[in-house]
Amino acid sequence: MPGTDEAAEAVTTAVVDSFRDTPDPRLRELLQGLVRHLHGYVRELRPTIQEWEYAVDYLTAVGQTCDPTRQEFILLSDVLGVSMLVETVNEQGGGTESTVLGPFHVVASPRREIGDTIDLMGTGTPCVVSLRVRSADGSPLAGASVDVWQCTEDGFYDVQQPDVQPPGNGRGLFRTDDEGRLWFRTVVPSHYPIPTDGPVGVLLGATARHPYRPAHIHFIVEADGHRSLTTHIFVADGPYLDSDAVFAVKEGLVVDFTEVDDEQRARAYQVAAPFRVAEFDITVEPATSEDA
Ligand code: BEZ
Ligand code: FE
Repeated sequence: MPGTDEAAEAVTTAVVDSFRDTPDPRLRELLQGLVRHLHGYVRELRPTIQEWEYAVDYLTAVGQTCDPTRQEFILLSDVLGVSMLVETVNEQGGGTESTVLGPFHVVASPRREIGDTIDLMGTGTPCVVSLRVRSADGSPLAGASVDVWQCTEDGFYDVQQPDVQPPGNGRGLFRTDDEGRLWFRTVVPSHYPIPTDGPVGVLLGATARHPYRPAHIHFIVEADGHRSLTTHIFVADGPYLDSDAVFAVKEGLVVDFTEVDDEQRARAYQVAAPFRVAEFDITVEPATSEDA
């Protein structure tokens, strides 16, 4: 019965069945679900053999584009909206909204003290970022770790410009004080195009999609007894907030970077006036047994 629906169904059933003795029930569920959905896609869209070969070659190229500082698979997951979907289905409510990790958290951030600068270049609009980390009941979280990374005012991360930027530019690993607060100095980040010189760029080009992300600063917040939070703050009023190439903007994460033209405040923060100030409160949810 070549090519019939029954023959196709029989293939799916055989493969789903082949996983029935998987000892780990969650692994069994994930693999059988993957097969059902993947086979459903093939049965519905009936790719030709040439199209399937193209897909295999494409995924091979995605893998071959990865290296220790380039993560094309994360990028592919991002532009397909899968990264954002995984974040969204894992949100429990009650905490600050999460958003995508992205492919540039590929090196450890240097340890920095409250008030330090993460801008090692000295170019760009000076900016002071103040954060306060609390638990869901409102109590401040002292000693929480906040990993920060961002691009320059030109829109590049340090790992994209090893000959231009010193390693660790735009990165810092901070700890909150007794009141759950921290602040640091930086420059206002720019909107930027995600890397388009690899297979993900081919996909965007073939589909007439633009590659831009709105300006943002990344955080991973970790506090004892709490769920880890991966998020950004986005610079209000910047371009691409309504068409992020990776679908990661959430309204609650859009923050004013207010201009301050006050010499006295500038001196207190050790920045040049005028500068920008961004303030953001972060709430992390208590860990549950599922987070272990
Ligand atoms: C980022 O914000 O660093 C990023 C996220 C997804 C894709 C590319 C870059
Ligand atoms: Fe980014």
